[in-house]
Amino acid sequence: MYSMNDLILKKRNGGVLTEEEIRYIVNGYTDGSIPDYQMSAFLMAVWFKGMNDDETVKLTMAMAESGDMLDLSKVKKSIGESAGKNMRIIDKHSTGGVGDKTTLIIGPVLAALGVPVVKMSGRGLGHTGGTIDKLESIPGFSSALSEESFIDQVKRIGFADMCQTGNLAPADKKIYALRDVTGTVDNISLIASSIMSKKLAAGAEVIVLDVKCGSGAFMKDISSAKKLAEIMVSIGKKCGRSVTAVISDMNEPLGRFVGNSLEVMEVVEILKGCGDERLRELSVKLAAEMLLLAEEDVSGDKLSEIINNKNVPHTGTEIACSGEEKDSGRYNAAEKRIKEVIQNGKALQKFREFVAAQGGDTGFIDGSSSLEAAKYMIPVRASESGILVSCDTEKIGLASLHLGGGREKISDEIDPSVGIEICHHLGDKIEKNDTLAILYANDEAKAETAAKFIKEAYKTEAEPTDGENHKLIYEIIR
Ligand code: URA
Repeated sequence: MYSMNDLILKKRNGGVLTEEEIRYIVNGYTDGSIPDYQMSAFLMAVWFKGMNDDETVKLTMAMAESGDMLDLSKVKKSIGESAGKNMRIIDKHSTGGVGDKTTLIIGPVLAALGVPVVKMSGRGLGHTGGTIDKLESIPGFSSALSEESFIDQVKRIGFADMCQTGNLAPADKKIYALRDVTGTVDNISLIASSIMSKKLAAGAEVIVLDVKCGSGAFMKDISSAKKLAEIMVSIGKKCGRSVTAVISDMNEPLGRFVGNSLEVMEVVEILKGCGDERLRELSVKLAAEMLLLAEEDVSGDKLSEIINNKNVPHTGTEIACSGEEKDSGRYNAAEKRIKEVIQNGKALQKFREFVAAQGGDTGFIDGSSSLEAAKYMIPVRASESGILVSCDTEKIGLASLHLGGGREKISDEIDPSVGIEICHHLGDKIEKNDTLAILYANDEAKAETAAKFIKEAYKTEAEPTDGENHKLIYEIIR
């Protein structure tokens, strides 16, 4: 038997924990025998002293095994039989960003192409939004699915998204909520174990990770984003999963809207073939990566082999694979199929089926009803003319949180209607008093503070900078 106090001290003094010690902490916190105050101190010790790769893998496994591990072989068999082919089941996860709603675009797109997508999502964390909070802005929508109905929905529709109910990675559920309010979110080992424990428990064979990098991400620079990507890929591989990490830009919000119901409506816009270019492009690129990996077995042509099995540097938004035409041909073909199901409405139809299957009112999709709207729409004006050269995206996330779109304490209720419309991208030329953003608010005092955050977030210069910030994808780690 261990003493939690001794283990906190061991980590605080820079010690390396054993597997038994890590399991004692994870299981004790999950069953309630270790209280929040001790776990908070432990997480802070990890934040300051770090964990080595071996400890991170052990922490991930202990968290994944803290509850049930889904067996998706039945889904695979039934989908394979009906499709007449061997399709691998796929999952994706983002490390967290501002305005990131790609899951809700990619899930229906891939389901429309016959690729089963299983997704266990989280709530907002710190300044970043969470898919479950977005989905719950749809009246009637339930993310609390039993494992049985989750599996059944994937078989019927091809896409289900649930929160961590019941017994799937319960350790992460508790630790995630505690990290959110104890200043212990942005640590590589804690993020990697949180994400990968959920992914391993949810059972997909193929996992695509969208590792966000930049001012609105937990990883602010490429080297830490790369380290996070590498450890998650290696944890997945050790557990027999095929994992790819796409390092993508978060130096400005993704898409035009930040805020729960606003982002759901933006998803519908994209699925109707309109909407923000960068959001659409990243969604298509991630979906193409997932589609090729899911179909790898079917073609008998291992993607990892044809792509040289190397980290692939990217320039601009170009997916540069190994440079061989064959590879870009496959990517182009995958992107074409993805764009087709958006153009012909099949992806939107899947989204409708998905919302209905989880109890949501689908009226907002076709305009017969609408999601809850905020009382005020307040423009935030630029204080000076120039080129928008940088954005402190975390501040935009905090502005949305402050309006009521996120939580400051575990017990806070989300206001689904509030948020921010972003009116410019980095690189745009603006004039003094142009509208920088529009606040959707229910409280004028909160809106005043949020407007201050937004004005502080954007910097203008007379001349454009080198454009490094405008890349969409930096690197892909396989
Ligand atoms: N997403 C998660 O699921 N966990 C984290 O720690 C960060 C992003």
